[in-house]
Amino acid sequence: MSTTLEPDGTRDGVSAYRFDNRLGGPVLSHQERWDELAGTHSGFRSTVARGYWVVTDGPEVQKALQDWRTFSNKSVTALEPDPKFLWIPEMLDPPVHNVWRRLLGRYFSPSAVAAREPEIRQVAAEMIDALRGRDGADVLDEFARRFPTLIFMRLMGLPEEDLPTFLDWTHELLHLSHGEDPDGARQMTAMREVSAYFEEQIAQRRETPRDDLLSHAMAWTIDGEPISDRDMHAFCILMFQAGFDTVPISIGWALYHFAAHPEQRAEILADPSLIPTGVEEILRVYSFVVPARKATKDVEIGGCPVRAGEMVMLPLAVTNRDPGRYDHPLEVDLHRKATNHIAFGSGPHRCLGSHLARLELNVAVEEWHRRIPDYRIAPGQELWQHGNMYGIKSLRLEW
Ligand code: HEM
Repeated sequence: MSTTLEPDGTRDGVSAYRFDNRLGGPVLSHQERWDELAGTHSGFRSTVARGYWVVTDGPEVQKALQDWRTFSNKSVTALEPDPKFLWIPEMLDPPVHNVWRRLLGRYFSPSAVAAREPEIRQVAAEMIDALRGRDGADVLDEFARRFPTLIFMRLMGLPEEDLPTFLDWTHELLHLSHGEDPDGARQMTAMREVSAYFEEQIAQRRETPRDDLLSHAMAWTIDGEPISDRDMHAFCILMFQAGFDTVPISIGWALYHFAAHPEQRAEILADPSLIPTGVEEILRVYSFVVPARKATKDVEIGGCPVRAGEMVMLPLAVTNRDPGRYDHPLEVDLHRKATNHIAFGSGPHRCLGSHLARLELNVAVEEWHRRIPDYRIAPGQELWQHGNMYGIKSLRLEW
């Protein structure tokens, strides 16, 4: 993929490219492009739109994520330094960010998540049972997307009959290629619908509170003030974005990985206690989240002379696939001892849902292999991953 990277001169002595992370590509191409860029640069300038800096040095990426004073979350979208929208808690900086994290923490703690395990396992098992009598399926559409979305809707207290609508919105918002939605109109329509949906859910709970996360959150106070409808809405939108696509993408990678590596599949079938390490390794090797931050002051990072107000892209793949950090970094190693990856981020914004995500992933891999141990990638399909967050677009397996 690096051959498609078009040089565009230099900026302040640093190499510049027409680098656009929104474009899709063949499976693993984005991760491999990061490997190449990290091998030759510690940082560079993208000249797409208003331009932004990209750090490709593994330790520097992690350092920036931890240094919230210098790298603010006021914008987390490299192409939009001055967003008109707010996502809570992702776009808040400490100290108000800490208050939200404290309030949310108990719903996402290891013990709160563990208490939901039987329910989560049952949902996964039922969905896989419905597939096992067939001889194949697009596992993204028929399992990887449905399972975590349903769990998430239950957690938030959203009506389960809305599941198909949510799956449609996720598709329209996150999965359309440029050709399918050239002017972004379909994406805008879906965003407006999601926004109106949450407005209505909030209004319903103001009238009649229920026993769910949304109703509980509406009763919280921050600095003695009740949470406004605007902030509740910003919270719902972030949860939608953060919780809806990430676990499906990871389940997609896990099934792809074990289909493409039957020898490792045989190992986890013989010894399921290897699954947790396998899941961590898949999160690390297939790293798909690319955070961004807005500099609060002039600073040099990855050799880039960043000015206050400029955006910096911080791809997690360069840390997670860094040969300076891991032996044979590009391999999923079911026996790796330390998997101190940063697939869930690092610093104050480290993923709030990581315990839930881990549980869902482990359950998905365990229950799948208990029921459908023998499967293969159906021939004749082009395996493609989305840009932005690198999820496999569709994956037909046969069994
Ligand atoms: C494998 C699945 C997941 C991955 C890889 C993942 C990854 C991440 C990453 C890298 C961040 C930090 C972003 C940044 O630094 O800008 C993050 C933040 C966040 N994630 Fe996840 N996530 C996953 C699943 C989930 C789930 C299931 C939920 C909720 C149900 C969730 C909720 C959040 C929230 C609320 C934040 C913002 C935290 C804050 O700003 O303090 N995530 N996630």
